[in-house]
Amino acid sequence: MKILGIETSCDETALALVEIKGNDFMILKNFVYSQIPIHRKYGGIVPEVAARAHVEKIPQLLKRLGRRKGEDIGVIAVVNGPGLITSLRVGVELAKTLCFAWQKPLVAINHIEAHIFSNWLTPAREVKSQKSPPEADAPRAQKVKSILFPALCLVASGGHTELILMKKIGEYKKLGQTLDDAAGEAFDKVAKFLNMGFPGGPAIAECAARGRADAIDFPRPLLDRDNFDFSFSGLKTAVLYELKKNKSKIKNKKYINDVCASFQEAVIDTLVGKTIKAAKKHNVKTILLAGGVSANAWLRKEMALAIKKFVPKVNLVKPELKYCTDNAAMVAAAAHHHAKKRDFTDWEKIDVDAGLSLG
Ligand code: KG4
Ligand code: ZN
Repeated sequence: MKILGIETSCDETALALVEIKGNDFMILKNFVYSQIPIHRKYGGIVPEVAARAHVEKIPQLLKRLGRRKGEDIGVIAVVNGPGLITSLRVGVELAKTLCFAWQKPLVAINHIEAHIFSNWLTPAREVKSQKSPPEADAPRAQKVKSILFPALCLVASGGHTELILMKKIGEYKKLGQTLDDAAGEAFDKVAKFLNMGFPGGPAIAECAARGRADAIDFPRPLLDRDNFDFSFSGLKTAVLYELKKNKSKIKNKKYINDVCASFQEAVIDTLVGKTIKAAKKHNVKTILLAGGVSANAWLRKEMALAIKKFVPKVNLVKPELKYCTDNAAMVAAAAHHHAKKRDFTDWEKIDVDAGLSLG
């Protein structure tokens, strides 16, 4: 089955064609147009600008896809929420048009579910037999990782921080979520205080790698609470106070590296602590990471160490770095089990929902 994935929920315009054969999710085409350079000058995403950029870019990506009549595409999958309403509309309108013109079935995908399925892309192989060659950077053949259930997924991105329990594919229960800022949002805001540009995650991580994580004792919000919710807004404010208190050191690179490392450590301690607690309580067999923040090298390392120490039988599965942030291959991957169950949406009835929830 070949599935066309469409993703325009935030600031990445993305189209992908994924072929699913048994356990293999082969990425035949994967186009991601990142709007980061456009939004950088505003220090964050401007919704109206994002939607306009999607409208301008999506016909170009469609042309690159090279399927004028839908040819070998079996199913069209599109994210219809959560996200920015005007951005979501662009992808959904394209999906509707293609479904009408090509007479293909439509699967509506929740963006959070799509992130979870970035983990299924790992074993994708390069496809040599395709007429048009696969993307040059298509993932190489890898050992198929076993994703045993129940599984627990930590989805940490710019818009979300959630712990989702998966009893099996397609069955989700949200155990907890952020009560205010998402983890990625906290990275972005702290980077803004430090004039490090947008998005903040990679810039903070780079400075943090040169700093001391124990230099400043930032709070670990809600870590000691008996629930699986998160809160990062107080931590962000604590960083702001720390910087205001030490204005004279702001030009000192070593001090800034220490602030970044200590802040990053506080975020990661919280994410890892809550994930391990939930993994124990629900006796999970697999922990999955997903979302832009899961690209963070320190998080990936700390999670692996904590699993080894506290729940050694649990298998850790992480998406490849390029599939942590928004892309359409993960959308196509998530659509597979819906398509198998013929869980299709009428293209005339699909709607967008900025606040769509999973589980
Ligand atoms: O999943 P994503 O592309 O978009 C949303 O669905 O929100 O995630 C983007 C977020 C941004 O907040 C960005 O700062 C963060 O992921 N991010 C990182 C790293 N790379 C991206 N955060 C921490 N460390 C990173 N290496
Ligand atoms: Zn996302």
